[in-house]
Amino acid sequence: MTEQRPVNEVTATKAPTLPDAQTVTDVRHYTDRLFSFRTTRPASLRFRSGEFVMIGLLGDNGKPLLRAYSIASPSWDEELEFYSIKVQDGPLTSKLQHIKPGDQVILRPKPVGTLVHDALLPGKRLWLFATGTGFAPFASLLRDPETYERFEQVIVTHTCREVAELTYSRDLVDNLKSDELMQELLGQEHLAKLTYYPTTTREQSPRMGRITTLLKDGTLLEDMGIDGISPDTDRAMVCGSMGLNLDLKEILEGFGLEEGANSDPKHYVVEKAFVG
Ligand code: A2P
Repeated sequence: MTEQRPVNEVTATKAPTLPDAQTVTDVRHYTDRLFSFRTTRPASLRFRSGEFVMIGLLGDNGKPLLRAYSIASPSWDEELEFYSIKVQDGPLTSKLQHIKPGDQVILRPKPVGTLVHDALLPGKRLWLFATGTGFAPFASLLRDPETYERFEQVIVTHTCREVAELTYSRDLVDNLKSDELMQELLGQEHLAKLTYYPTTTREQSPRMGRITTLLKDGTLLEDMGIDGISPDTDRAMVCGSMGLNLDLKEILEGFGLEEGANSDPKHYVVEKAFVG
């Protein structure tokens, strides 16, 4: 990562005491519902960009309280990054939202998931459709050079209720496009393939509407100057609420795309964003 972070001396000296514990190195709050955090990375942890791991804290009963979290950092990053919702009465996130640098979180180092390049056939164009915290796996994939090596065009859409909820994705894409180190790492000509398409549904912004609506009524394709979506050229990854995933599956299948898996790569893949 290239962003400036204050050095945390506590982090450097505090030894993990929980099983599978990692130390929090940075926490950022975006809204009263969203935050991101970074942790140390176990030396042995290898993962494919887009995968998730189980993350958590010790519950009141002393047992680990774990949830599936997409790793938002790319596989080359020496730390791990996660992007999370805060649910005030959520068993995990009501507590997790209060973590600070130097604290420990539990991380089960067994990455899995279907939002990975291996689950897609080669193609020309990659669509990444996210709502809310569903952007997390794409934060990883967008910082992975393989994403740009595999495709001629990469379009990431992010739909949230309010403008402030787009901060994480907007900052990430801005950083990709403006940071010299990122340009060096990913290649300027690679980053030129990327288009960010943010939309809001409940607050006024330059582009409004559910992505499903904008896809069905032709607005998205028109804005992108694309004639249509086809299994010959287009690949898609979808990460959002159950409703979004189901609606987008139907739309993509209407274009003739078929759902892929690690063992059977095809045209699109879907995973539910963490919501608890
Ligand atoms: P909307 O405001 O119209 O419900 P949430 O915060 O509930 O997870 O929603 C995140 C974003 O996903 C919101 O902008 C929401 O739009 C949108 N959304 C929720 N369900 C769907 C769906 N079935 N299809 C498309 N967009 C959806």
